[in-house]
Amino acid sequence: MNRKKLVVTIVGCGSTRTPALVGSLINYKENFPLKKLIFFDIDKKRIEAQEDYIRLAMEKHCPDVELLFTDNEDEAYIGTEYVFCQMRAGNFHMRGHDEKIPLKYDLIGQETCGPGGFAYGMRSIKPMIHMVKKIREYAPNAWILNYTNPAAIVAVALDKVFPEDKRILNICDQPYSMIKSFAKLLDVDQYDIEPRYFGLNHFGWFTELRHVPTGEDLLPKLKKYLLEHDFKPYNAEQRAASWLKTYKNVNKMMSFFPEYLPNTYLQYYFFPEEIAKNSDPNYTRADEAKNGREKQVLELCKKAKDQNSFEGLELLVGAVHGNMMVEVAESIAYDLNKVYIVMVKNDNIISNIPQDAMVEVAGTLGKDGAKGYEFGQVGTFYKGLIEGQYAYEKLTVEACLESNYQKALEALTLNRSIVNPVKAKAVLDDMMQANKDYWWLS
Ligand code: NAD
Ligand code: G6P
Ligand code: MN
Repeated sequence: MNRKKLVVTIVGCGSTRTPALVGSLINYKENFPLKKLIFFDIDKKRIEAQEDYIRLAMEKHCPDVELLFTDNEDEAYIGTEYVFCQMRAGNFHMRGHDEKIPLKYDLIGQETCGPGGFAYGMRSIKPMIHMVKKIREYAPNAWILNYTNPAAIVAVALDKVFPEDKRILNICDQPYSMIKSFAKLLDVDQYDIEPRYFGLNHFGWFTELRHVPTGEDLLPKLKKYLLEHDFKPYNAEQRAASWLKTYKNVNKMMSFFPEYLPNTYLQYYFFPEEIAKNSDPNYTRADEAKNGREKQVLELCKKAKDQNSFEGLELLVGAVHGNMMVEVAESIAYDLNKVYIVMVKNDNIISNIPQDAMVEVAGTLGKDGAKGYEFGQVGTFYKGLIEGQYAYEKLTVEACLESNYQKALEALTLNRSIVNPVKAKAVLDDMMQANKDYWWLS
């Protein structure tokens, strides 16, 4: 393969997902060749914690690629062609608040859904807008591939502020991860499954799983399997307890609504009381991830730093997040038009819900970005759910951009995981105090 070498910037490189993303870039070096890799984070300490591991891995596997580690945002974007964005405003410290504060009010504690997702959205929007403006100063044609959560809200905000910018793509790895899991259960190659899907980010349904070599829709077979077996992620042995429960709730959702296969995140909207009741307010996913992934990755990075060589060290690879980020960029860069589940402006893809919603559907990725496959109408049940959720997303973005307390209260009341305005107000006031360094409403 003789492909043009590219310049890539990773924003929020202090994320402990970065070493595995670098492993994916290494594994895909023929398909997605690099000229220069720029690592940017606002927190110098977080860069330094992983810098040696990354540098040594790259020196071993891709010695010709120029590397730059920087906390200077001007430097980060000069000449860049692809920006992979994965920042978390407030880091794990604030993720802890997102997940724990709602539990005080018997509401779900989740980083992207319910009050936690709201608070995190309010923190993400402005830094993301700032980032896009900065990138456009230095790299007007660069592709911005955004994974920063809550991606649903970030997508609506960026579309509102930069409606003409056609080189911003918001995308989520959960559908990809679910397809990988379906493939394992069905004993087929994940890349042979072409899905159809509709909804909003972290709020959607699979309607078809076409097996490309045979033309068969595998969804009926999978649904039958799930009547008798728990749904398990492809890497169940490595997953923490909370994720296994989450996957099992797909079976439960389907026992009520068997028509389509729901995204795991819908559990928070169908079973909020039960999930809140079964959560430990002193140990949420933030703690689990900190004591799991973060600890393991930072230990490995420290080892690399201490021995100053890659000898005997494992090359981490992002089987979902990392691989998907690189495949998505590859499909755009080389106009491959591969099918992914993408976020795009509705514009009649789903004909009977708001046209300005950022919907999540199956679509192709090529040189002009994402093109969603037309879906047609969704049934009344799904239409009702999606419209409520989209109204919540839209009001959240408006509340943030206008610093409008009333809109925030309306948004939270519309959220199916909350509903009660008394609780919505209580959790909003508490969240606002905890987030006062990031946002404030009046
Ligand atoms: P993390 O908290 O470990 O790291 C985030 C990093 O972002 C930190 O090093 C922090 O210093 C940095 N940061 C914060 N504000 C920044 C800014 N303004 N500019 C540059 N860097 C900044 O995060 P994580 O848990 O590994 O997740 C990273 C992000 O990716 C989160 O937003 C997470 O929700 C998201 N994510 C999304 C998907 C998806 O499907 N869309 C999948 C995985 C992770
Ligand atoms: C999935 C979702 C992401 C989310 C992540 C959380 O990949 O699609 O949006 O950020 O899970 O994973 P974690 O291990 O940090 O809880
Ligand atoms: Mn996601």
